[in-house]
Amino acid sequence: MTLHTHPPETAPQISPTTRAEKQSAGDAPVIELVDVHRRFGTVPALDGISLSVRKGEVLGIIGRSGAGKSTLIRCLNGLERPDSGAIRIEGTEIATLSEQALQPVRRRIGMIFQHFNLLSAKTVEENVALPLKIAGVAKAERLARARDLLDLVGLSDKARANPAALSGGQKQRVGIARALSAEPALLLSDEATSALDPETTRSILALLRDINRKLGLTIILITHEMDVVRAVADRVAVIDAGRIVEEGSIWQVFSSPQAQITRSLLKSSRPQLPNSIAARLLPATTGSTAGTAILSLDAAGADSVKAVQASLSALLADGVRVVHGGIDEIQSNPVFRGFLALPSNPALISRVRDDLTARGAQLEALGHVADPV
Ligand SMILES: Nc1ncnc2c1ncn2[C@@H]1O[C@H](COP(=O)(O)OP(=O)(O)O)[C@@H](O)[C@H]1O
Ligand SMILES: [Mg+2]
Repeated sequence: MTLHTHPPETAPQISPTTRAEKQSAGDAPVIELVDVHRRFGTVPALDGISLSVRKGEVLGIIGRSGAGKSTLIRCLNGLERPDSGAIRIEGTEIATLSEQALQPVRRRIGMIFQHFNLLSAKTVEENVALPLKIAGVAKAERLARARDLLDLVGLSDKARANPAALSGGQKQRVGIARALSAEPALLLSDEATSALDPETTRSILALLRDINRKLGLTIILITHEMDVVRAVADRVAVIDAGRIVEEGSIWQVFSSPQAQITRSLLKSSRPQLPNSIAARLLPATTGSTAGTAILSLDAAGADSVKAVQASLSALLADGVRVVHGGIDEIQSNPVFRGFLALPSNPALISRVRDDLTARGAQLEALGHVADPV
């Protein structure tokens, strides 16, 4: 076989942002919020939010309904004015800007929504080109740009279709293409996958991640679902009653959540105790030596997961079994999440607890069932 020197691969249509670019630009935040307050009557919707987002970063903002997420997004695009505090987008203070002075800043921001907000009287490509029409771009140019974007989101064949003829996932792809048409620096997503089924959600999140990598676009993604944050964000801020209660890398927050609200939001993304066991579960009674004890087990990081696995195989001889769960991956780090069943013997339970805790695992006694499981 002869070895040839190959020319560089054909450049993709949209040049990827290199890691070096991402890092060097990382110094100046695209978004900076300092102590932002917004009150509706007696409700403090935003109660002192400070936040900074770097160029090219995907920040997930998660919280329950009513936490203040949409108010935060509306403040970022100038639809809502804070009572106090600073909001800087690419260095421009927008909290006090006039409506007219806001326009050029708004053009730097693309938005996608839960219900897509497409115009049904217009074709797909006209919807995508609309922000460019508003910006005064000539028809041929804006339609050419719309077709490039439809290509990027995998919908080239739907350019002339009516949005009503599309599936939910396809509609959101059109929404994303439209949000990108004016080449924004920042993409804001407010529950953009909340109306979609899990598989479509995954494909939309993969598309957002792809766009983030290809275009170096900064993304703020608002959701009430931890799995959404985990699939696409680099960093997460947990918001509750208008305050950020916890913030960190996906790995930090998922592997060792600090706030109660974070733990509770994380429950949905953790394996659940199988119904066949949950239905029979009795509260843990100290000193009970009958039946089978059920414990939840969590371990994070390669070293801990490996040590826990070794321990579990040794404990098999004592009747300690994993009844549900397994190894998952968060930001390329392994985590173990599951449930153990073992003879409900206090001495054994505390030995298992000590052994696994020494290997970095977290255990919680959930109760016991009368029979073996
Ligand atoms: N325009 C408004 N008028 C009165 N109350 C509002 C308004 N917008 C939001 N709120 C209140 O502010 C709080 C935060 O709302 P919101 O930002 O929509 O939360 P989320 O998007 O996290 O569900 C809620 O208690 C909501 O009822
Ligand atoms: Mg909302």
